[in-house]
Amino acid sequence: MKNHPAKEPVIRCFRPGEESALWEVFHSAVHSIASKDYSAEQVDAWSPANPDLARWAKRIRGINPFVAERAGVVVGYADVQADGYIDHFFVSAAAARQGVGSALMRKLHEAAGQRNISALFSNVSLTARPFFEQWGFVTLARQSVSARGVFLENVSMKKSLS
Ligand SMILES: CC(C)(COP(=O)(O)OP(=O)(O)OC[C@H]1O[C@@H](n2cnc3c(N)ncnc32)[C@H](O)[C@@H]1OP(=O)(O)O)[C@@H](O)C(=O)NCCC(=O)NCCS
Repeated sequence: MKNHPAKEPVIRCFRPGEESALWEVFHSAVHSIASKDYSAEQVDAWSPANPDLARWAKRIRGINPFVAERAGVVVGYADVQADGYIDHFFVSAAAARQGVGSALMRKLHEAAGQRNISALFSNVSLTARPFFEQWGFVTLARQSVSARGVFLENVSMKKSLS
């Protein structure tokens, strides 16, 4: 994995109040990056243009992610839960392929080590699968999940840390 020292983001804890900045990252990642593997109908269902922002804010506070920031701009975020589950992992389209995802993944591994987590697992988009594979995650199953009544394929992936 390449390092991009000049553009290395700061990885820090989520701060209440920046939920909508994270939604911008999420929406951009789904519509401009994942859209190469999913149809317009699927990305619209995954991240609608007019979300319920109160519900979104509650969700983000619940997962309490790490945030990637570069020059004061939020460019990505990712979480790891106490059981090792990675719920969200998104980098904004404008910052893609510049090492932001790698910096976030390093942080999740560091946090997992500190919390004695024995394995990381996630339901990973087809788009993010090669990235997760590079980090040593293996595919357990392909699955189809419903987002607002529209089916999307993703893969269940796991990495043992022990
Ligand atoms: C997957 C994602 C998080 C990667 O973030 P990123 O900041 O672009 O990743 P990095 O720049 O650190 O990439 C490191 C390496 O991973 C691999 N990689 C990253 N994205 C890739 C992709 N879409 N396809 C193939 N390989 C990829 C490459 O080898 C890359 O190195 P390179 O750019 O020198 O070739 C980002 O593309 C994203 O948000 N995707 C859309 C949303 C999504 O599907 N999220 C996951 C939901 S589970």
